[in-house]
Amino acid sequence: MVPFIDLNSQFKRIQSDVEERVLAVLRSGQYILGPEVAALEQQLAEFTGVKHAISCASGTDALMIALMAEGIGPGDAVFTTPFTFFATAEVIALLGATPIFVDIDPETFNIDPAALDKAITALKTGDTSCTALPKWSAEKLAVLKPRGIIAVDLFGLPADYGQINAVAERHGLFVLEDAAQGYGGKLNGLRAGALAKVACTSFFPAKPLGCYGDGGALFTDDDTLADLFRSIRVHGQGSDRYENVRLGITGRLDAIQAAVLIPKLAIFQDELDARQRVAATYNRLLAALDVELITPTVPNGYYSAWAQYSVLASNAAARQALMDKLKAAGIPTMIYYPKPLHLQKAFENLGHQPGDFPLSESVAERIFSLPMHPYLDDATIAQIVSAFK
Ligand SMILES: Cc1ncc(COP(=O)(O)O)c(C=O)c1O
Repeated sequence: MVPFIDLNSQFKRIQSDVEERVLAVLRSGQYILGPEVAALEQQLAEFTGVKHAISCASGTDALMIALMAEGIGPGDAVFTTPFTFFATAEVIALLGATPIFVDIDPETFNIDPAALDKAITALKTGDTSCTALPKWSAEKLAVLKPRGIIAVDLFGLPADYGQINAVAERHGLFVLEDAAQGYGGKLNGLRAGALAKVACTSFFPAKPLGCYGDGGALFTDDDTLADLFRSIRVHGQGSDRYENVRLGITGRLDAIQAAVLIPKLAIFQDELDARQRVAATYNRLLAALDVELITPTVPNGYYSAWAQYSVLASNAAARQALMDKLKAAGIPTMIYYPKPLHLQKAFENLGHQPGDFPLSESVAERIFSLPMHPYLDDATIAQIVSAFK
């Protein structure tokens, strides 16, 4: 069986460094935050090209901390894509605010800036003729205050921040970049993590830069926000641990995960280069096949972190047939994501129906992902592609 991702090959490459660093942490007696975490944060900030990287306990906590710093709560509306991992919208609702979904660009799978502009205008004016707002009464909708946007760098490709930041500025909203999948990617030479005022990432093991447990980080150039993030991640602490000046969470990164991430960050660009090779080889070999399949688009000026290599079949039945064929040949595939968030039971209070975000729904029915990791050699890629025949 071909592995879907291969963390073992990576571990063999960094094993001695990781073991030495983890052992040093175990012997140090300092297990939460501390010098290893401070060193990692410094290196992450440099890699990303931002002033501050603030590590935390997960990508979800990073999003949560960013929204808490904005004071997001009941009555606030935060615009986001329905075609993402659940956590992106979950954090909005966890804080009592309302996620307002906006359909995607069907080529990049990221939030469509034109549709975003329309949705913000619709909520401000109450004119729902060109977007699907929650199916609530006009009075209930009128209470919602547009506050911010969470754009997601899906599958590793940054969203269109040139346009998203411009739309946000026009409407007076903040932009939060969810780079959980996009960390390592670039847009016009700027790294994911530096594409909006605040960005978040996840170090979940399967992410392009993952640790050996849960972890995450926030990025910003803003000194005041950085201090706020550091306070919120430790129960809203003030100048010392037992002074609490606001509400916060247990959102710290542990030192063992930092000890794992430092050696991984050292080889990250090399791994990103390898992911480019894998994606280019897939593109070339799949284009030569006589199968109806759309390969991923990377527009000019964009550099994908290739968290996933996802293709579109012509319809749901064709997808199932292709996935079955690959499975029979020992090739695993995954569907990210089979059900857009507006149709998830957890969000049924929003009253959305099938048809509300047709592009997200159509992509969810047709998409599937092939094995993708930096250690995938050309012969194995050829083996995977020949299984389509
Ligand atoms: C787009 C996106 N946002 C947020 C998260 C949440 O990250 P975590 O699992 O580290 O909490 C993930 C990944 O799991 C993700 O893919």
